[in-house]
Amino acid sequence: MSKLKLGVLISGRGSNLQALIDACANASYPAEIVTVISNRADAKGLTRARAANIATQVIEHTAYGDRESFDRDVDAALQAAGAQLICLAGFMRLLSAWFVDQWPDRIVNIHPSLLPAFKGTDSHAQALAAGVKLSGCSVHFVRSEMDAGPIVMQAAVPVLPGDNEDSLAARVLTAEHQCYPRAVRLIAENRVTVEDGRVVIADAGATAEPLFNPPLD
Ligand code: GAR
Repeated sequence: MSKLKLGVLISGRGSNLQALIDACANASYPAEIVTVISNRADAKGLTRARAANIATQVIEHTAYGDRESFDRDVDAALQAAGAQLICLAGFMRLLSAWFVDQWPDRIVNIHPSLLPAFKGTDSHAQALAAGVKLSGCSVHFVRSEMDAGPIVMQAAVPVLPGDNEDSLAARVLTAEHQCYPRAVRLIAENRVTVEDGRVVIADAGATAEPLFNPPLD
């Protein structure tokens, strides 16, 4: 069976890109990365892609006068590479409604909170300020509103006494690296559909076990 072709958009470190690269290195994984596009030339993730012999492109948003002309060039690059699913992996640009409409339910993002809580760039600070005992990450289909769209998969992570933004971010990031390849696999296996604005997953399995924090005695 042919593999789902991924176009990955990054802006920085690229550790979620690395998780996808590592998953795709397994011959039985049902997706492959055809291009990695960064809006910043100095993104560390570009080095990760090059090390894996994946084609990279830099499309610097600063070279564009308006959001949509940047988005049109990114769209053209993804189409030319034959991408079928776009994975945002620490891509720190809002995509225009025009762009999102070109790729209906074909763009996924990973966000470091249990959406719809704590949207934006400071999710961990928001979680700590709110005093939640569980935070986590979400993989969701992208809509033109920031950090919104049908949720494919989430992982819950405890917030521990003494946590700061860095320690919580590191714990959530470990879960992100497990979640993103798994969510992309479900999509690549054609098990994910969007019905009435919500994701339905065929044969997802289920656990009814609650996660407690602090733990039960
Ligand atoms: C990740 O924690 C990702 O969830 C977050 O940026 C980080 C990128 O790290 N994305 C967002 O906040 C999007 N709203 P990475 O470059 O190492 O994958």
